[in-house]
Amino acid sequence: MYVCVCNGITEEMLDTAQKQGLSDREILNRLGVGNSCGVCVIDALDNMRSNSLKSQKTSNRKDSKKS
Ligand code: FES
Repeated sequence: MYVCVCNGITEEMLDTAQKQGLSDREILNRLGVGNSCGVCVIDALDNMRSNSLKSQKTSNRKDSKKS
């Protein structure tokens, strides 16, 4: 699904950038999210933070299974 229609940025592209360890600001800058009309920035940040929370929960579950 598109997060930034102006620049053709999808959720998958944000996910891939996050997995590379980039910060939210680096991702927005590198992909050009929000550099045209700007209406997508809040949704892009929400998407990335939601993904971060999901990966933290997954990581916590894996850690609790180890102990
Ligand atoms: S939708 Fe992202 S800059 Fe316009």
